[in-house]
Amino acid sequence: MNQTKFISRRTFLTGVSAAAIAAASPALFAAPKPKAKALIILFSRSGNTAYLAERIHAETGAPILRIEPKVPYAPRYSDMTDGAREEIRKWSRREIKTKIPDLSGYDTIFICAPLWWGHLDTPMRTFLMDHPLAGKTIFPVTTSGSSSPAGVVADIHKLCPKARIKPEFWVPGDEARKSDAELKTWLKKSGF
Ligand SMILES: Cc1cc2nc3c(=O)[nH]c(=O)nc-3n(C[C@H](O)[C@H](O)[C@H](O)COP(=O)(O)O)c2cc1C
Repeated sequence: MNQTKFISRRTFLTGVSAAAIAAASPALFAAPKPKAKALIILFSRSGNTAYLAERIHAETGAPILRIEPKVPYAPRYSDMTDGAREEIRKWSRREIKTKIPDLSGYDTIFICAPLWWGHLDTPMRTFLMDHPLAGKTIFPVTTSGSSSPAGVVADIHKLCPKARIKPEFWVPGDEARKSDAELKTWLKKSGF
């Protein structure tokens, strides 16, 4: 037997440090990717979208940050809807009283917000005007009477041009509380 060859193979198998092997084949030794750190940002006037946010919280453990306007809307729909339509039409701001924490530690954001007059509601628009969530992954979650969620998703694209916007979850508001199974399926498909 060729003694030199034998020794050098043994040395390779037993004498080389794990660090050196890791350096030679990084794909094999790559540290596991940390899990996405998710936050749920919610505006809900009458509770339908809030129900979805709470289910997402229960399934993912992500905390909920609830957006509250400084001046609340009148509780009766008929007293607030014309003013809300004007705000939407003019892209007005509705100032927010919620203290917004440092968002830099979150890479994934669920934007849970209802559709108003074909668009994203004004308090959530105002939040996104100030926090365009650049570089983050956004999952839109919305409810409406019956309108398609397209207007909400288009507003999120407009306000967050540097975010990665994933396929949305939408149900009519009066079906939100019956949508647990559908929501779970969407969460699973979305990687949660
Ligand atoms: C000001 C206002 C405007 C609305 N505009 C629409 C609309 O254009 N189309 C629609 O299908 N539903 C519309 N809705 C119904 C809401 O989208 C629906 O009730 C939603 O589920 C409310 O969510 P929330 O309970 O989380 O506030 C409107 C509701 C409000 C208060």
